[in-house]
Amino acid sequence: LSNGLGMTPPMGWNSWNHFGCNIDEKMIKETADALVSTGLSKLGYEYVNIDDCWAEISRDDKGNLVPKKSTFPSGIKALADYVNKKGLKLGIYSDAGYFTCSRKMPGSLGYEEQDAKTFASWGIDYLKYDNCNNDGSKPTKRYPVMTRALMKAGRPIFFSLCEWGDMHPAEWGAPVGNSWRTTNDISDNWESMISRADQNEIYAEYARPGGWNDPDMLEVGNGGMTKDEYIVHFSLWAISKAPLLLGCDIRNMTRETMDIITNKDVIAVNQDPYGFQAKKVRMEGDQEIWSAPLSGYKIAVVLLNRGPVRYSTTARWDDIGLDPKTVVQARDLWENKTLKTTFVGNLTATLRPHSCKLYVLKPIA
Ligand code: GLA
Repeated sequence: LSNGLGMTPPMGWNSWNHFGCNIDEKMIKETADALVSTGLSKLGYEYVNIDDCWAEISRDDKGNLVPKKSTFPSGIKALADYVNKKGLKLGIYSDAGYFTCSRKMPGSLGYEEQDAKTFASWGIDYLKYDNCNNDGSKPTKRYPVMTRALMKAGRPIFFSLCEWGDMHPAEWGAPVGNSWRTTNDISDNWESMISRADQNEIYAEYARPGGWNDPDMLEVGNGGMTKDEYIVHFSLWAISKAPLLLGCDIRNMTRETMDIITNKDVIAVNQDPYGFQAKKVRMEGDQEIWSAPLSGYKIAVVLLNRGPVRYSTTARWDDIGLDPKTVVQARDLWENKTLKTTFVGNLTATLRPHSCKLYVLKPIA
């Protein structure tokens, strides 16, 4: 969407994966505090996104959405002010239907202009727009109504389409939103995570600055995967130019979680100005090579072992778009080091089960 937003994939946090409907203004404020105190905000994590369940089930007598009194007594504007003072941005959630997916609050169908104005007046910077409990009409009919409402509301608002991929939003999302879900909801396990990466990869050619494929939010730090698996999760999201929306309790993170989500080189792959989403360039059984060109003649490459046993995997230059004679310097982003030897023609690594390597390759001769 040409609203000047999302020139690189959005980064931040969202309440859903860890908290579901158990949200209130205190924990949202504490999360904003934690984004700053942990240094995450300096790395680019800027959106604090409230998901479902923030509003009363009924609109007021003028038809306005009402923040839930028991959990958001100070209102959303006050929360946006709080978050903005910290240099962060507040995001919110609604639905292109009569009720949101939880059925605990109204959707915006039929109230698009009014709600867009409300969000803008509160100082909202990001809207996630879900697809539950609608009137049965096509999302291609309902979503653009909110797009136009947002464009008229007088404030640039990142527009995240949450249609779960059923109607192939990659094919129609570019003029409608800044990102579009390509998958059903992720859960905190390997199969769920890796299948979302696969389904999202199909649409790689549609990703570009201003409009990104969204394989759903991060589960890193929620406890259901091993460290290697979370590294695969973060690596594939980074190289796929997916939104990096943290989904754990960032007030309470382990060192391991922090190490994964604060890796500057990996974040830089995600935020590279070219915005090319990685594609699978080789699949052999459980071994895969994913790669994407980066700015500055560099290439990001993931060597992935999806299988249950250790395996030696090779990335070949002709698969990743390099002449086989090219001499390449390789940086191993999870070892945080540039390898001493250079490589010609290919690069091989031995991978533990359910693990990956992420390299940035730089041709030097
Ligand atoms: C849908 C979305 C999720 C989340 C929930 C909230 O399932 O896909 O990301 O927003 O609704 O109810």
